[in-house]
Amino acid sequence: MHILTFAEVCQRGEARGNRVFIRADLNVPLNDQGQITEDTRVRASVPAVQMALDAGAAVMITSHLGRPTEGEFKPEDSLAPVAKRLAELLGKPVRLQQNWVDGGFELHPGEVVMLENCRLNKGEKKNDDALAQKYAKLCDIFVHDAFGTAHRAEASTYGIAKYAPIACAGPLLAAEIDAIQRALANPKRPLIAIVAGSKVSTKLTILQALADKVDGLIVGGGIANTFLLAAGHAIGKSLAEPDLIEEARKVIDKMKARGAEVPIPVDVVVADRFAADAKATVKTVDQVGPEDMILDIGPKTAQQLADKLKAAGTIVWNGPVGVFEFDAFANGTKTLAMAIAASPAFSIAGGGDTLAAIAKYDIADKVGYISTGGGAFLEVLEGKTLPAFEILEARARG
Ligand code: 3PG
Repeated sequence: MHILTFAEVCQRGEARGNRVFIRADLNVPLNDQGQITEDTRVRASVPAVQMALDAGAAVMITSHLGRPTEGEFKPEDSLAPVAKRLAELLGKPVRLQQNWVDGGFELHPGEVVMLENCRLNKGEKKNDDALAQKYAKLCDIFVHDAFGTAHRAEASTYGIAKYAPIACAGPLLAAEIDAIQRALANPKRPLIAIVAGSKVSTKLTILQALADKVDGLIVGGGIANTFLLAAGHAIGKSLAEPDLIEEARKVIDKMKARGAEVPIPVDVVVADRFAADAKATVKTVDQVGPEDMILDIGPKTAQQLADKLKAAGTIVWNGPVGVFEFDAFANGTKTLAMAIAASPAFSIAGGGDTLAAIAKYDIADKVGYISTGGGAFLEVLEGKTLPAFEILEARARG
């Protein structure tokens, strides 16, 4: 995939004195008082803004925040707290600009203006062509740096890229593209994926797509329970989707036919209820009784999987393999997290719960790349070409 990067544009001196429009993903969680509770995405947007400032540009940055009704401004939809946080991180003022679509606001090189929540603009979500052209008129260079929104074709993520004089990938998007290529397009083998979560149905397309690519597919959580059923094991009261047993079987067979494997747990940790203080009992898969709920993989399985991860060339991680929020059922996720940290493999991880597990076991600096994308990361795993990649590639071809 060849995509023009903003770093290249800056190196060529094309940003100096020009207007740069950065589309970031600043969709951060806010509490009832409108304070940011987790600012990773704001921090991740700083390098693009700093790169533009260092290159002598006048900087506009925008994002969506939530899913507001277009044309109906409500104070809770405002990017005001985000502008404040960005100003703190940059150590310089960030002015918030309302009603910006038709331009007419002042902006000089060396300044940063945050354009209010772009999803308040009528036509944004539907990628309205006239709106996209108005956005493009505001700038000389469009920088797509919103990986978290790269799976959406909206006016500020897609349409503007068609019309801006220059359209390129910001440093965050470029890093995501590099990591994804390294993990999925040209992986060092064996390539092992961990796909875990409560339901097969939400990740079926991912499991099917990865079954064509990976050498080992580790399933966890409720997904593993459905695979246990497919392999002929009883799972008691555990969360599962019996109507998807056939699909799980197809994934297992597809992998087998390629000489690859879906390792089925040999032991599990069960409880009689879903609670932090429930008694945890280790059982072999054949001992699971009708009243048992499987809440984690057992220690023997965790060790077997950890050994596979340590011998991997590449690891893709999406989802914890047990209820790691409850300490009694966290051993499986912790063991795999530590194995990923210790493995010489290139690893890429993404998804809300996965990031929480990485934080809990403090292994962020030992994971090759941590994706900022939620839905976008999942669509990459499904093998889809994201609209952001498609349009930037088309622009790079000229
Ligand atoms: C996200 O939080 O996953 C992104 O910001 C995308 O948000 P959306 O699902 O509202 O488009």
